[in-house]
Amino acid sequence: MGIVEIIKKKRDGGVLSEAEIHEWIGKMVKGEVPDYQSSALLMAIFLKGMDREETKILNMEMLHSGDVVAPGTFGDFVVDKHSTGGVGDKTTLVIGAIVAACGVKVAKMSGRGLGHTGGTLDKMESIPGVRCDLSTDEFAEKIKTLGIAIAGQTGSFAPADKILYALRDVTGTVESLPLIASSIMSKKLACGADGILLDVKYGSGAFMKTPEDALELARVMVKLGEDCGRIMGAMITNMDVPLGANVGNLLEVFEAMDVLEGRGPKDLTEECKELAEGMLILAGKDPKEAKAQVEEALSSGKAYELFGRLITEQAGRVGELEELRTYFKEHGIFENGYRIEVCAPASGVIRRMDTEKVGLTSSFLGAGREKLTDTIDPEAGIHFRKKTGEAVREGEVLAELFTSSRPENLEKASEMLLSAMEIGAGEAFENPGTYATILPNSGKV
Ligand code: URA
Repeated sequence: MGIVEIIKKKRDGGVLSEAEIHEWIGKMVKGEVPDYQSSALLMAIFLKGMDREETKILNMEMLHSGDVVAPGTFGDFVVDKHSTGGVGDKTTLVIGAIVAACGVKVAKMSGRGLGHTGGTLDKMESIPGVRCDLSTDEFAEKIKTLGIAIAGQTGSFAPADKILYALRDVTGTVESLPLIASSIMSKKLACGADGILLDVKYGSGAFMKTPEDALELARVMVKLGEDCGRIMGAMITNMDVPLGANVGNLLEVFEAMDVLEGRGPKDLTEECKELAEGMLILAGKDPKEAKAQVEEALSSGKAYELFGRLITEQAGRVGELEELRTYFKEHGIFENGYRIEVCAPASGVIRRMDTEKVGLTSSFLGAGREKLTDTIDPEAGIHFRKKTGEAVREGEVLAELFTSSRPENLEKASEMLLSAMEIGAGEAFENPGTYATILPNSGKV
């Protein structure tokens, strides 16, 4: 069957066979399918969906379109964690250090931020000197010696996803469950981790707007991983509100360090602990033991110390990072930076936030990029003093905006942020935390 016939079959709601998906992906990676045909097929999949079997086949075809590191390659049991994308999501920096301090090896392949979401690589590289362009050998060596490495995902893993993701981005076909599931899992499965914990976000800053849809996505991805023999887990977490108080690369690194020192914001600290416990459970610990080990890693300072070693191991200059952090804490601004305050236009309660718009505001200040080739300003971002659910008085400071590269954008960014926050009458309330958890033998979900 030719590509046109495959497009027509999906357009008419048909179920694609293994041979058909193989033909499409195989030829596409060789450059034999024009972008307009793949785009048409993506739109047909977006509109008609794919059943579980088709999604599994698509995932396997994408996985085997490039290099695959076999599980077991790193020696001991190795865990990875993946977030579906968020605003203020700096959990990897915290939980990587906690889990490694608990003696479980962490192999973290990360991506860059794009659009409204941040990426772990940009956060890591905002630390003076840090490099994440590790070769597979360097990556494996650091995991063996230190117990953790954070590397950029190279183009040699799942190249089919690279092509498809770029097309989806410009054809309005990103928010499709089978396409998201196969995109994420094909890359994760290529990286050699034995256990994978998925942090699936829901809400105004996430691809999945409702917790129910996020749970369905999580179930599909967990099954894709289990079908490939991996130990899988997932947590469905809230992205209706940014995580923690800071958004922006260095600001998020500072906040991750606060959590490791035991003085981070409550929502972020709780989510980090839950995710770290989940990763330990995937590595075979029982839930009680996992909880106790996470608490001990934090309270003893072992996780904080491991974070410093991780940065040093990846060529980072911890002394300079500490100086930047101290200066910021003492002066409330970066040395050569700009800052403005965003104040409440009225008294009331922050009823909701458009978290995607918050991410875009941070990006507009220089913290993110529109194209993968854009450079970012590590010092740009937002510090929230008030978030959803909190009562505010007219004129009270809601947030501070920072940039070192685009001072001319501060006023407009302030308007953007205000338009992302809905203040109205009502009682203060708590934001919901984790909606559901899927973990082996935990009896949950
Ligand atoms: N992250 C990915 O890698 N792929 C998607 O489709 C969505 C989020």
